[in-house]
Amino acid sequence: MCAGMRLPRDRLAVALDVSTLDEARHFARRLAPEVGVLKVGLELFVAEGPAAVCAVHDAGAACFLDLKLHDIPATVAGAVRSAVALGVRYATLHAAAGPDALRAAAETARGSATRLCAVTALTSLDRAALAAIGFAAPAPEDVVRRLADLALEAGIDGFVCSPEEVAALRAQAGRDALLITPGVRPAGAEVADQRRVATPAEAIRAGADVLVVGRPVRDAADPAAAARAIVAAIREASA
Ligand code: C5P
Repeated sequence: MCAGMRLPRDRLAVALDVSTLDEARHFARRLAPEVGVLKVGLELFVAEGPAAVCAVHDAGAACFLDLKLHDIPATVAGAVRSAVALGVRYATLHAAAGPDALRAAAETARGSATRLCAVTALTSLDRAALAAIGFAAPAPEDVVRRLADLALEAGIDGFVCSPEEVAALRAQAGRDALLITPGVRPAGAEVADQRRVATPAEAIRAGADVLVVGRPVRDAADPAAAARAIVAAIREASA
């Protein structure tokens, strides 16, 4: 686990899943006193660009730039260079971009403060969908294992994975790998479109380093209080 992650608040990344800079600033200011990391994803970044990252930094939080890059090596490396220049703490890319793109990304980020996490198989893809795109390994777990190997060999720091993949990836990738886990729901919260969920305590105990939570915080009557409660659960589970 890296130095910037020892505090429970640094182990929660709240997704700023909004589409305007005004909303992003509003949530960032409200949440930064409680949460160490705020996640900027495709919706916000496509709408507002690097200003969204600046909004996170201006509020005093670290930025998780979740663009899930997937392109040729030179383009992925260029995007990673830009993410490093923005000073983001975490950035994501697809392991399926292949060994050369993964290596180029890892080399570009080396020595910087930006850590790269690979997405193996999107958790929205079931066995039939994986087969339909030509990922012919016998089962989704085999696809995840193979893509994880590619990313580890290339020097990628860790993975974005579902709570139920955490234990297997931890065993495969070792103690130092960074495992970031969405699909987390505080006990009793709305599951919405997430299929497989874990509570914050379950995900931490399974070995996750950073939890990603979006709607249960964004849509709460008091988002700061909702985030504070998750940080408290992380603290308790990691004590
Ligand atoms: O609102 P919710 O907590 O379900 O969203 C969590 C965030 O994690 C969203 O920004 C979503 O894009 C992301 N996510 C992901 N991989 C998944 C599930 C969600 O990156 N398998």
